[in-house]
Amino acid sequence: MSAGNVTPRGTARTEAARDHLWMHFTRHSTFSEGGGEVPIITRGEGAYVYDAAGKQYLDGLAGLFTVQVGHGRTELAEAASKQAQELAFFPLWSYAHPTAIDLAERLAHEAPGDLDRVFFTSGGGEAVEAAWKLAKQYFKLVGKPMKHKVISRAIAYHGTTAGALSITGIPEVKAPFEPLVPGGFRAPNTNIYRAPEHLREDPKAFGRWAADRIGEAIEFEGADTVAAVFVEPVQNAGGCFPPPPGYFERLREICDEHDVLLVSDETICAFGRIGELFACEDFDYVPDIITCAKGLTSGYAPLGAMIASSRLFEPFAHGDTSFAHGYTFGGHPVSCAVAMANLDIFEREGLVQHVHENAPRFRGTLEKLLDLPIVGDVRGAGFFYGIELVKDKQTRETFSGEEAERLLRGFLSPALFEAGLYCRADDRGDPVIQLAPPLVIGQREFDEIEQKLRGVLTQAWSKL
Ligand SMILES: Cc1ncc(COP(=O)(O)O)c(C=O)c1O
Repeated sequence: MSAGNVTPRGTARTEAARDHLWMHFTRHSTFSEGGGEVPIITRGEGAYVYDAAGKQYLDGLAGLFTVQVGHGRTELAEAASKQAQELAFFPLWSYAHPTAIDLAERLAHEAPGDLDRVFFTSGGGEAVEAAWKLAKQYFKLVGKPMKHKVISRAIAYHGTTAGALSITGIPEVKAPFEPLVPGGFRAPNTNIYRAPEHLREDPKAFGRWAADRIGEAIEFEGADTVAAVFVEPVQNAGGCFPPPPGYFERLREICDEHDVLLVSDETICAFGRIGELFACEDFDYVPDIITCAKGLTSGYAPLGAMIASSRLFEPFAHGDTSFAHGYTFGGHPVSCAVAMANLDIFEREGLVQHVHENAPRFRGTLEKLLDLPIVGDVRGAGFFYGIELVKDKQTRETFSGEEAERLLRGFLSPALFEAGLYCRADDRGDPVIQLAPPLVIGQREFDEIEQKLRGVLTQAWSKL
């Protein structure tokens, strides 16, 4: 065993991980009872990560939809080091520091419309939490105190803190923690592959239908009780549901009609994942709030942000009113310095342009997999795709719970990793493989992803 695989106390890291680390969203019995070894990633370089034995994996998920500029950027490490030496920490509680100010100005400048007020958090869930609280307080301040409910979409994931979890639409993730914060209601998402049959061939009609379901939910709840609609530009959970044409135009109309805030949760979709720095611009709508995190620093330091329109900030600019909300580490000076350096890389290397140019090639390469009997659908946008696996392509029949368990957890996840591809096999909706690689990759890596998936999916089919 190399020294790199041992803790300072002399324990094998796989054992110490099994015995002391509580991993997130992890079924620990795999390691404590099943004899599995905790996979340990020790190093990253570009689009690749390496385990303790030096084995290489293509990072098909950019860590967790995060490492936009790729791994091993010394420039970002240096930005962090420089800032930590100058001012390691100071809060944004009635005081400010230069990197938070500079980043707020930069994000305000990049964000669409009049979204020009930036509230920093430590991550995406906290930004969602902050957005809901802002929506509630804003309406109290403007004389509509009953407006407090939120509409979001089926299977959507918006975070795990109590408020964000109430907005999340995945029953299994919520069940252990019920009762949650009251006020979260669901409407259908934009999964056209599973849309009512008469709408599948008409994306525009489907978009209208899906947006109108949100309008209907607002009306069912009573518009004077609904504060906000939370949607991702491309919904992640369920396997990458892009908006059908006209969807956001209609949704914006509905929100305006009912004086309901439109919150674009871009925790995954911002910072080039779809193309533009803010994905609402890819789909041509201006929300009232953007929540973002992850790619803002490419994961080199934790940071999230809620970017609000000047209209929402206005009531907070007067008298003794304040937004009684905050986080010690929100807008951490080191994270803000890293975000600035990260956005410099975006500009210098033209990453937005790179994604726009290469997205059709990435999609085209993944679509080759449609010749496999197990691949029902390839969908997504930019550098963000879901591949839905089906039992019967003709009827779109999906797998039973037990089959999905065997297929995804039992076979696909370990087999893909073994094949040298880190990505996600997910069954929070129908079974999908999800891809969101660093934005720096090109055709060579697209082909590598396709080849690895082809091998493993062919094997999976033969095991059914
Ligand atoms: C759309 C969306 N919102 C919120 C979150 C929560 O972000 P975090 O894990 O940084 O709290 C996520 C995380 O993946 C997300 O995808």
